Parts: sequence; structure tokens; C-alpha cells
Amino acid sequence: MYTSRISGLGHFVPENIVTNEDLSKLMDTNDEWIQERTGIKERRWIEKGSDETSASMGAKAAKIAIAKAGIDKDDIDFIIFATLSPDMYFPGCGVQIQDMLDLPTIGALDVRNQCSGFVYALSVADQFIKTGMYKNILVIGSEFHSGGLDISDRGRGVSVIFGDGAGALILTRSDDEKRRILSTHLHSEGKHAKELTVEGPSIAHWVPEILNNPDDISYYPYMNGTFVFKNAVVRFSEVIMEGLLTNGLTPADINMFIPHQANLRISQFVQKKFKLRDDQVYNNIQKYGNTTAASIVIALSEAWEEGKVNKGDLVVLAAFGSGFTWASAIIRW
Ligand code: ACO
Repeated sequence: MYTSRISGLGHFVPENIVTNEDLSKLMDTNDEWIQERTGIKERRWIEKGSDETSASMGAKAAKIAIAKAGIDKDDIDFIIFATLSPDMYFPGCGVQIQDMLDLPTIGALDVRNQCSGFVYALSVADQFIKTGMYKNILVIGSEFHSGGLDISDRGRGVSVIFGDGAGALILTRSDDEKRRILSTHLHSEGKHAKELTVEGPSIAHWVPEILNNPDDISYYPYMNGTFVFKNAVVRFSEVIMEGLLTNGLTPADINMFIPHQANLRISQFVQKKFKLRDDQVYNNIQKYGNTTAASIVIALSEAWEEGKVNKGDLVVLAAFGSGFTWASAIIRW
């Protein structure tokens, strides 16, 4: 059986920086509350009036990943795109990438697993590589949150958290038994779907119904933050342990932990639980906020660029989010 390795990474974030201070001019919030609860100092939001989207940011990140992998774009034989903020209701962003990058008429798949979306996408790619079906898969996570947030006092509990951005990687067929994706682990618990959701518009609750009711704000994200937080810390820990045990490893074997950037307090809780040093955990939520399906791959791309992920390192990715869904990937770099 083949193995898969990450051969190139790239990321892109919009230039427009929105600080906590900027938000305090739009809604009843303040820097102290946001930093204390989430660790976020600033985030990137696509400038109003710009034609940037999840797909266009994904394409920019993908171009960098392709160049870093040292392959030609025509060597890519499958696209997987993870997002909760697609450009269109349908078709998905994957086909837009095929067009934007002028790729051959290869398959394109969209993954709708929110904060866990990137690890799910990576897992799907890993299976396709291991079975020998594909040699180079472009995996993208991208989010354009700012266009769909409630920027008012009413929405402050959610809107201060989220940022825009994209990351991409190339997963490549290999025969190296040591340096590879060792395993991935995927979970869900749909009974909690309503705790973190955007309900409308949906086919069951279509646009005219929403427009007819001024109190209907089902198109804005709803989050039961405390409930999400409590579940996140448990599931993060479980799915990391599951990954380590599957490979006969322990927390002491981890060289670099890259958590989904949901909230710095969640990452710190997990860091403490696994007794990891600060230099063994990569966090960038302070400058980008929560970029959902893009957060892990942006962080991985930055860590790689900064030389913090090196040959032979045990790299652990883990995510938790809406669905609920949660996932981990254990990688020998
Ligand atoms: N600024 C100032 N005050 C605020 C703000 C704000 N932006 N937002 C809420 N408050 C107020 C509330 O109104 C409340 O006031 P009250 O006590 O007078 O009623 C108070 O602050 C506390 O609000 P809580 O919601 O209880 O705050 P909490 O400590 O739970 O923190 C937070 C909220 C940061 C959202 C936290 O619950 C969290 O991070 N949860 C997990 C988020 C997460 O991981 N999501 C998963 C990924 S997202 C995805 O999958 C799409």
C-alpha cells in the first residue's frame, strides 16, 4: 500500500486587519473582554466591496502550495475543498478552484464539516492516496466569515471570534513507511447540531419566509458558546489520545500540536492536559481569529515556513466544531 506525505503548503489572508478596538466602535464590546475570553487581538476581514471570496482566497493559497510542492498544476489529480462559507449555495468551491487554476477536468469534492472540515478533508485525501487512486491531491480550507456575521450588539458573542482566510496543501503519494500520515480519526454527534449553526435559508426555511419576518435572523450564526466550549475540551483530548494510542504513542512523543484555532483558552486547556511546552503548540488565533476550516492549515503552513515543523517530528492536528464534529490526524513529518 502507498503512503501519503504533505509535499507543499500555502496560505493567504486578506490585508484588512480588524482589531478589537475597531470592533468596539461597531458594537458593545472591548479589547479586554475579547482577549480574556478568546485570546484574539485582531482578525482579517475581507474589505467591503472587494471581490475576494472563499474560492478566490483558496486559489491564492493553492498556488503557493503547488509551487512549494515543486509540482506542475497539471500534476494535481483531485481537489478537496473544505468550507462553511461557500461562494454559492451550489455548486461548491471545488469546481471553482478547478476553473480558477485552469486545472484539467479532474474530480472536485466539497467538505462541509465546519471547524473539523480540514482534518476530514485531509483524511479523505489520505485514503485516496493510500489506495493508489490518486498521486497528488490539492486540499484547501477557506472561509469568508465576515460577510455573514451579525456586526451589532446582538451578534457580539459570535462575530468577534471569526476571521477570514485560506490555507492549502498538496498531499502526495509516497512509499516512505516512516514519514507519512500515520492515521486520522473522525467523529460526529448530530444531536448537538443546533448548538452551533446557521439554520437559514434552507430548503425547509426558504428566503421569502425569512424576508416576511423581521425577527427571523436564522441566517446569522448561532452558538451556545459555553456548551461548545465544554464539549470541545473533552473531545479534543479524546481524539488526540485515540490517535496516539492507535500508533502506540504517548503525549510525550508529540513534537508539535496544531489545534483548530477555536479559542486560545481551549488550546491552552489541551496543552496543559498533555503537559506540552509553549514551543510544542502552534497558535495564531491572536492575529487571525477563528478561521474555521482554514485555521489548521494556515497554522501548519506558518509553522512549516517558520521551521517549527521538521523532518521526523510527530505532528498532531486536532479539531472540534459545529455538527458536532471532531477529528485528529497523527503525522510523522
Ligand atoms: N463583548 C463583551 N461582552 C460580551 C461579548 C462581547 N463580544 N459577547 C458576550 N458578552 C457578554 C454576554 O452578554 C454575557 O453578559 P451577561 O453575563 O451580562 O449576560 C457575558 O459576556 C458572558 O457571556 P458568555 O457567552 O457566557 O461568555 P463565555 O465566557 O462563555 O465566552 C465564548 C464566550 C468566547 C464564545 C466562549 O464560550 C467560547 O469560546 N466558546 C467556544 C467557541 C468555539 O470553540 N466554537 C467552536 C468552533 S466554531 C465553529 O465550529 C464554526
